[in-house]
Amino acid sequence: MYGGYTYVELKYKPSKDDFIVLLWVKGKNKIEKIAEAVAAESSVGTWTKLSTMNDIVFKNYRARVFKIIKVTKSSGFIYIAYPYEHFDSKNILQFQASVMGNIFGMKEVDELYIMDISFPEKYQKQFKGPKNGIEGIRKYVGTLKSRRPHIGTIVKPKVGLTPKEFANVAYDAWSNGLDLVKDDENLVDQKFCPWKKRFNEVTKKMDKAENETGEKKLYATNITDSSIDRMIERLDYVREHGQRMVMLDVYVMGLAALHEMIKHTRKYNIFVHAHRAGYAAHNRGMFGVNFQVYEKFYRIIGVDQLHIGTGVGKMEGSALYVKRLHDIAIKNKGEEKFYLGSLKFTFAKHIKPLFPVSSGGLDPGMVDALIELFGKDIVIQAGGGVHGHPNGTGAGARALRYAVDCAMKHIPLPKASEKNNDLKLALKKFGYADPKDIKNVLKYEKNNKQKLTREVKIGGLAEYQRIV
Ligand code: 3PG
Ligand code: 3PG
Ligand code: MG
Repeated sequence: MYGGYTYVELKYKPSKDDFIVLLWVKGKNKIEKIAEAVAAESSVGTWTKLSTMNDIVFKNYRARVFKIIKVTKSSGFIYIAYPYEHFDSKNILQFQASVMGNIFGMKEVDELYIMDISFPEKYQKQFKGPKNGIEGIRKYVGTLKSRRPHIGTIVKPKVGLTPKEFANVAYDAWSNGLDLVKDDENLVDQKFCPWKKRFNEVTKKMDKAENETGEKKLYATNITDSSIDRMIERLDYVREHGQRMVMLDVYVMGLAALHEMIKHTRKYNIFVHAHRAGYAAHNRGMFGVNFQVYEKFYRIIGVDQLHIGTGVGKMEGSALYVKRLHDIAIKNKGEEKFYLGSLKFTFAKHIKPLFPVSSGGLDPGMVDALIELFGKDIVIQAGGGVHGHPNGTGAGARALRYAVDCAMKHIPLPKASEKNNDLKLALKKFGYADPKDIKNVLKYEKNNKQKLTREVKIGGLAEYQRIV
């Protein structure tokens, strides 16, 4: 009972149109009471009995806790079903304010973490998903047949170069074999490198690199802005100049601005490269929303490429967990993996796969491990791992391209490097990530699903966070 009503209904069987939310909760009261409070506050209820409540409201719009996995008397995992009718159409913010809203501020909870949400297909039908996604981008770059991983770089230093300096670095990267060059998440239109000037210089160099290599290149220009008008102005400029990609800092801009911008990028048929900077602010502690929830939003709304982490390299996230993010990017169905906090998922048929991007602390020596983990449908991006090459950007780009080309021929990097000085120097500086380690992690998961599930059921959020 919470506020005079009951929200825990363990006999309830969710319908196919319900939204399912899996949460971790911990407080001072019994977990049943905490679950009641969370379900009430995130749906129709409040702290007391209401003279205004009626049967229709309670029956049709309330949330129901249909499963509780107790870890202690006052902590555990709860599953909540929300009826389809509870939510507004085509308006993700109303969904956020309900399910991801007030509950985080309630005294009732000392810990609250939304592990995953499953969105019914009926809800997904209101959104269009990626216009291009993997296949569209591969078609443009010309890798539909080879299906090799795409490779790219983030120009470094992150900010500070002038437009001409920036464009020269981009040219070195493209002309030495990379497909993609991108702005960093914190570079947009600063005085030392105005957006339009940079765009003009970079695209001139891109033409040159395309002519010389005979390959199609991409520039993910960061148009993120707190003004939608300015983003659209930049987008218009990109389209008028025949460019095909923009970058958006999707987390910091928020879902409303993203939803709005995707309308325009779809119309112009421009690919959206999504950087997720900031997501980890509420992904890592005892209060938060797991990134897989945002990833689903981003795919449903329609970004074409999205950063998902690395599993190796400098970003948080174990190989197993990042592999799950890769599945959510490219597959239409996935089984429940409780130990990864993941519910089963099904994307509606019209929601195309997006191109997952692995970025952060990567270098050419990690290519074998990354392909072992993700397969070939991955964009491998290296900033420091390209521009930090002892012989500079061009050599770093060649090393990365050579590494991918050899991986496609199943030649391990240490062997490949015997015939290629760029790769040899890269391995000497950065080392080699042995794909056997990834193989072992994946094998371990395959053979220990029940054990992992048991451990999280006993250890709760802390154990879950140890695994992911
Ligand atoms: C809010 O949105 O601030 C809460 O819904 C407050 O509602 P209450 O007064 O019923 O707690
Ligand atoms: C990114 O935005 O993904 C990072 O800038 C990657 O840079 P790094 O390869 O130097 O870590
Ligand atoms: Mg960056």
